[in-house]
Amino acid sequence: LDGGGLPWDLAGKRVVVTSGGTREEIDPVRFLGNRSSGKQGHAIAAVAAARGARVTLVTSSDLPVPAAVEAIHIDSARELRDATFAAAAEADVVIKAAAVADFRPTDVSSSKLKKGTGSEPAEIRLERNPDILAELVAGRGSGDVPAGCILVGFAAETGDSSGSVLDHGRAKLARKGCDLLVVNEVGRGTTFGQDVNGGWILDSAGGETPVDRASKDLLASRILDAVVSRAAAPSA
Ligand code: CTP
Ligand code: CA
Repeated sequence: LDGGGLPWDLAGKRVVVTSGGTREEIDPVRFLGNRSSGKQGHAIAAVAAARGARVTLVTSSDLPVPAAVEAIHIDSARELRDATFAAAAEADVVIKAAAVADFRPTDVSSSKLKKGTGSEPAEIRLERNPDILAELVAGRGSGDVPAGCILVGFAAETGDSSGSVLDHGRAKLARKGCDLLVVNEVGRGTTFGQDVNGGWILDSAGGETPVDRASKDLLASRILDAVVSRAAAPSA
C-alpha cells in the first residue's frame, strides 16, 4: 500500500481488526469454514496503519500481514473471541470484518473420521457460537471494552423474499447495537475472494453512505473515514 497522500488522522489510535473466515474443527484434519478470504480486513488494517493507527489484526487468513501491523492468528470463533477481547480492552476502535461461523460441531473427533469403519458420521450436529460483536457491545457496558470504543460490524447479505440487502442491513445494525455497519452484497462469485467490494456504510445515528463497487483499499478508506467522523461527532 502506498501511504503517500493518505491523511494521518488515526495517529495514536488503537485499532483492532478481525479478518478472514473462522474454522471449526470436525476432526484433526477437517473443519467447517466459509468463503471469506481476509482481503477486506487486511486492507482495513493496512490503511489504518498507513493513517497512523496502532493496529492489531486478529485473523485466520494466510494472506501476508500488512506493514506495521501486529497479527494474531486464530482458527475458531472462540479463539477469535478470546484474542479480540484481549486486544479490545485497550482499543479505540474494533472493526469486525471476520466472517464468524455461526455454528460449530458439537462433538469434535480426536482421531480422523474414516470410511467403512462402522462409525461413519451420519450427520454432524451443530451448536451456536458466541456472537462476538454482540458481546463487544455488551462489554462496553460492563467495562471489558472502553466505553468510548467505536464498534464496526459487517453484514454479508443477500436479498430474499423478506427484504432487500439494505433492509437486512438496517435491521442488523439495530439488532447488533454497534455504531457502524458495513453492508455488502454476497453470493458465489461476488465479494468473497474478490478484489472489489461495494455496499453501504450505515451509522447508528442514521447516516447511510452508499459505496460503489471499488477496490477493497478504497472501501477500507471509506470505512475509516466514517470511523473518524463518528469519533468527532459530539454524540458519539
Ligand atoms: N459476528 C460475530 N460473531 C458471530 C457472528 C457474527 O461477531 N458469531 C459479527 C461479524 O464479524 C460481523 C457481524 O457480526 O461483523 C455480522 O455478521 P453476520 O453473519 O452478517 O450476522 P449474524 O448476526 O450472524 O446474522 P446472520 O444470521 O444473518 O448470519
Ligand atoms: Ca452469521
